[in-house]
Amino acid sequence: MELTDRPRRLRRDGIREMVSETDVDASDLIAPVFVDATTDERVPIETMPGHERVPVEESVARVEEVLETGVEAVMIFGIPESKDEQGTRAWAEDGVVQEATRRVTRETDAYVITDVCLCEYTSHGHCGVLEDGAGESRGEGNARLTVRNDETLDLLGKIATSHAAAGADMVAPSGMMDGMVGAIRESLDAADFSDVPIMSYAAKYESAFYGPFRDAADGAPAFGDRRHYQMDPANAREALREVRLDVEQGADVLMVKPALPYLDVVSDIREEFDHPVAAYNVSGEYAMLHAASEKGWLELEEVAMESLVSIKRAGADLILTYFAEDVADSL
Ligand code: PBG
Repeated sequence: MELTDRPRRLRRDGIREMVSETDVDASDLIAPVFVDATTDERVPIETMPGHERVPVEESVARVEEVLETGVEAVMIFGIPESKDEQGTRAWAEDGVVQEATRRVTRETDAYVITDVCLCEYTSHGHCGVLEDGAGESRGEGNARLTVRNDETLDLLGKIATSHAAAGADMVAPSGMMDGMVGAIRESLDAADFSDVPIMSYAAKYESAFYGPFRDAADGAPAFGDRRHYQMDPANAREALREVRLDVEQGADVLMVKPALPYLDVVSDIREEFDHPVAAYNVSGEYAMLHAASEKGWLELEEVAMESLVSIKRAGADLILTYFAEDVADSL
C-alpha cells in the first residue's frame, strides 16, 4: 500500500505547535465580576467554585486580581441592596454597578464592560417592566404573561447612560428586548457617549445553563420563565435575524450565549457578518466541568482549555468566561 497523504507527519513535537490553527490568548478573555451591595465581605459562590460576590469596597481589589493574570477586561454584574417592581436601582447614580465602575475605572487599567439588564434589580426577576396583571398571578401556568418591550427600552437607555456616566468603557445589554441596541445607542449618543461601544447579547438563548449564575446574581425569575423574550434553543436561522437587527441598530460586538451548545450559531455569525463576535461560556458550562473534575472524572485545566479553543475555532474573537483567570494564569 502506498499512502501519499500522511497528516500525522505534522503532529510531531516541534511542528505540531507551528501548524496549530487556533490560539487562546489572555487578551481574548473577559472575566465576569460580581459586585454585591448586600454584603460587606466576600461571599464564595457555591455553584461556581473559585468565584465570589464582592462588596463595592473590594471591587478594585477583585479587578486587580484579574489583571494580574493577564486578562485585561472585566464584565461587571451587580447585586443591588434592594429590589422593586421597576428595578429602579439599576439606573441609580449611586447604584452598585455605577459605584464599582467609578472606582475600577479610576483606579485600574481594566477595560470595564457592564451588563445592562433589569433582572437582578426587579422584585419579580424578569428583564423588564411587567405587563399589567403579571404581578398578581405568579403561580404556574402564566407563561403567557410577559414583559412590556417598549417601556423596558426607555429604562435600558437610562441604565446604559448611567453606566457610561460612571466610566464604563462598553455596555452589554442582555435582556433580549426588541430594539434594545437602537434605544441604547440613541440614549448614549444624546448624553454625549457616542464613543461608548455596545456589545449586544444578540443571540441569547433561553437556556438551562444559566442556573448557577442566577444563584450568583440572585436574578432568577420569581415566576414563569424567560422564553417569551430569550430565544428558542431550536432556532439557528432566527439567530442570524436577531443579529442582523442588532447590526442595523448599531451594535459594535455581537455576542452568542451560551457558547458550547451553540457553536454552530457562533460559526454562522462569523461567516455572515464582519463584526467582532463574542461568545459567553456561561455559568453552567463552567459548573459542570468543575463538578466532573471534583469527582475525578475530568482533568479541569485540560477541558477548560479545550472548551475555549473550540469556541475560538468556531469563530469567536472574544470569550466571556469564568475560566478567564485560571486559563490566563496557565498560558
Ligand atoms: C442577565 C444575565 C444572565 C446571564 C448573564 N446576564 C442570566 C439570565 O439571562 O438569566 C447568564 C450568565 C451565565 O449563566 O453565566 N440577563
